[in-house]
Amino acid sequence: MDLKRFAEGIPKAELHLHLEGSFEPELMFEIAARNKVDIPYASIEEVKTAYNFNNLQEFLDIYYAGAGVLLKKRDFYDLTWAYLEKVAAENVKHVEVFFDPQTHTHRGVEFDVVIEGILDALKDGEKKLEVSSYLIMSYLRHLDEDDAIRTLKQGLAYRDEIIGVGLDSSEKGNPPSKFAEVFSMSKEAGWKLCCHAGEEGPSEYIWEAIDLIGVDRIDHGNRCLDDPKLIERLIEMEIGLTICPLSNDKLQVVDDLSEHPLKTMLSKNLKVTSNSDDPAYFGGYMNRNFTDLIEPIGLTEDDIIRLAKNSFETSFLPVNKIAAYCGMIDDYVNVHAT
Ligand code: ADE
Ligand code: ZN
Repeated sequence: MDLKRFAEGIPKAELHLHLEGSFEPELMFEIAARNKVDIPYASIEEVKTAYNFNNLQEFLDIYYAGAGVLLKKRDFYDLTWAYLEKVAAENVKHVEVFFDPQTHTHRGVEFDVVIEGILDALKDGEKKLEVSSYLIMSYLRHLDEDDAIRTLKQGLAYRDEIIGVGLDSSEKGNPPSKFAEVFSMSKEAGWKLCCHAGEEGPSEYIWEAIDLIGVDRIDHGNRCLDDPKLIERLIEMEIGLTICPLSNDKLQVVDDLSEHPLKTMLSKNLKVTSNSDDPAYFGGYMNRNFTDLIEPIGLTEDDIIRLAKNSFETSFLPVNKIAAYCGMIDDYVNVHAT
């Protein structure tokens, strides 16, 4: 079997996905029309040409504008369902997805409307598509900590339906330490802790995330490569880094995919995974975040197996389920490896 088909078929988990970032222009137009909301684009083609970013902030401005058409429970259901259908067809068995409540509550959409639409779709995804899922509530770091604390309190009504919390949006100038209190409260609520760090921001933000916040997983974390002591610590603590190759390319975190550090990170034994981040904006879902790297960085069969196993091993699944999914990978490898 060729390497591309091998990567496409291997069972895998996605651990870094923003539901709002899976909003395809076609669905955006459909929902805008039924909600009678104007969008600043004349056609789907025009939307796609606007998806040309020089940095994280240019992307975020467009991402928040796109999310503005989501108003009703059904909209959040349709958004989530469309994502699950896509990944079910890519042999993704488990997902841990982010949603950004403040993006919606700040526009006057009720927290309950957002989360209930998402949860209904996730439940249907387990039943009808056999994709298991956990939901992560992400705080927006460009807003203040009090706003995050208000969001945490809304989330507490759904304590058992949320697996963890995250921190996303504009990284530079908004270090994890700004959110120490809300993370401590989130831990007390029994939630896992994730934090975007070291995407555009410096390696110091990754140190803060592990030492001060005590995160269970780092989202991105590319900049750890600037600091050998930090690499050592991440390996020693077996902290997962959810890497997003196509996102890094489109947001110019790397100059070119051929310069992507994923293979270097694997060779250092960092617990890295490959994920799509915001697939509707960055040109590819899970499988393209494997296959598009095969040629540019020389990803091998062993690398692909390691990435797939890491995706379950650094998930928040219980150990028996992790073992079962890794067994599924072994079965696949026995049949399909060269
Ligand atoms: N929100 C959605 N995608 C993001 C990213 N790549 N970095 C920070 N915040 C985000
Ligand atoms: Zn992200």
